[in-house]
Amino acid sequence: MKAKIMLIGGGGREDAIARKIVENEGTLISVMPFENPSIKRLCNKFFIAGENDAEKIISLAREEKPDVVYVSPDSFLEKPIVDALQYSNIKVASPDTKAFQIESSKIFMRQLLKRFGIQGNLKYEIFYDEYDAGKFLDSQSNKEFAIKPAGLTGGKGVKLTDVHFRNRDEAKKYAASIISRDKKVIFEEKVTGEEFSLQAFTDGMNLSFFPLAQDYKRLMDDETGPNTGGMGSITGKEMLLPFIRRDNVEKAKDIVKKVIESLYSEGTMFKGVIYGQFMQTTSGVKVIEFNGRMADPEGINCMALYDGDLVETLLSLGNGNLKTSSIHFQNKASVLKYIVAEGYPDNPAPGKLKVNNKDLPEHFKIYYSSVKGSMEEPEMTGSRSLALLGIGETIEEASGIVETNLWRISGKYYMRHGIGTAASLKKKHF
Ligand code: AMP
Ligand code: GLY
Repeated sequence: MKAKIMLIGGGGREDAIARKIVENEGTLISVMPFENPSIKRLCNKFFIAGENDAEKIISLAREEKPDVVYVSPDSFLEKPIVDALQYSNIKVASPDTKAFQIESSKIFMRQLLKRFGIQGNLKYEIFYDEYDAGKFLDSQSNKEFAIKPAGLTGGKGVKLTDVHFRNRDEAKKYAASIISRDKKVIFEEKVTGEEFSLQAFTDGMNLSFFPLAQDYKRLMDDETGPNTGGMGSITGKEMLLPFIRRDNVEKAKDIVKKVIESLYSEGTMFKGVIYGQFMQTTSGVKVIEFNGRMADPEGINCMALYDGDLVETLLSLGNGNLKTSSIHFQNKASVLKYIVAEGYPDNPAPGKLKVNNKDLPEHFKIYYSSVKGSMEEPEMTGSRSLALLGIGETIEEASGIVETNLWRISGKYYMRHGIGTAASLKKKHF
């Protein structure tokens, strides 16, 4: 559909969104914090602005008069940018700060689930004082917890008492450091099992789900090392993953629907993409977190497979009239592997890459994330650089497609080659 879309954000996920907008005949106006070479070549115009440039973004939107604005990254959604755009009568396909609390405040999210008796909630405790937090940890010495800042963490602020610390004193110190920075900390009961990501478009009432996805969060192929922003991700055929039970998928869908209904019943219309992070445990499906945006990297897999008209979808989210019958995804599996600088995430040593983009096969895509320079010779940064995506009949085949195209990328980098391989799938807990 022909329409003018303003896309806010400049990472790999936004590159995937931008490609779909242009493929669906949208006119793309990009606002990004740095020059993403792929988005730059796709858009009609681009402007450089970060999440702290709210006024600039609002006045750009007023001048450009897009049919709809899509604000993509969490760092922008946390700021009252969507609120100000709506106040200026500009249509937006993203949640305002009130709706985005589902991600920006883990306390808001846990309390919402509790208030409405929504299944899947975890036991949790909030502490505002380091002495109380320490006393609690000592009194529960036989239990393990996830220690989390209440706000946005970029996937890196969560630590598990038995995994990330050698003893209770280290855990207490970590909790105290969060309290001294944020004035509060949240402890959740630690759960184990397979995680999965369930995303959906929603206009605040109607929902349309994306294919189920899984993010490979740990740095190393043996599932050790620090948690990262996500080293890669997989989706399977039939919108399912072979190791997540169908009844658990249905339960997770029900939880997402109830969250949207609960927000609505309290006067909050959540518009955009809602993304639940779940765990399949022996005692049912548990909510790990909720996000108010597309997942990165899982959102890239889903955009690559999106068969609907994204321009039309974004307009309908902005107008509050999502037609769920217009949302379709290709019935294929996909695997994404991120290229990062060696030493990522703690001590990245970014260098230059050489990329051969010539005659890319239909089932292999290269998305540009945090890189500078040209598409052929991108310079890496300390963050995730290129997302390589394969599409196939099976997850294993899609993983192999990424590997057979690696000759196209040269330079020093790190990647988890094991994402989506038969060996990695075998280790999953059904
Ligand atoms: P979050 O930023 O809340 O998604 O947490 C990052 C990662 O930490 C999750 O993807 C899980 O792997 C892990 N995690 C978070 N909360 C818990 C929990 N309560 N129990 C076990 N693992 C967790
Ligand atoms: N897949 C992790 C995130 O988007 O938060």
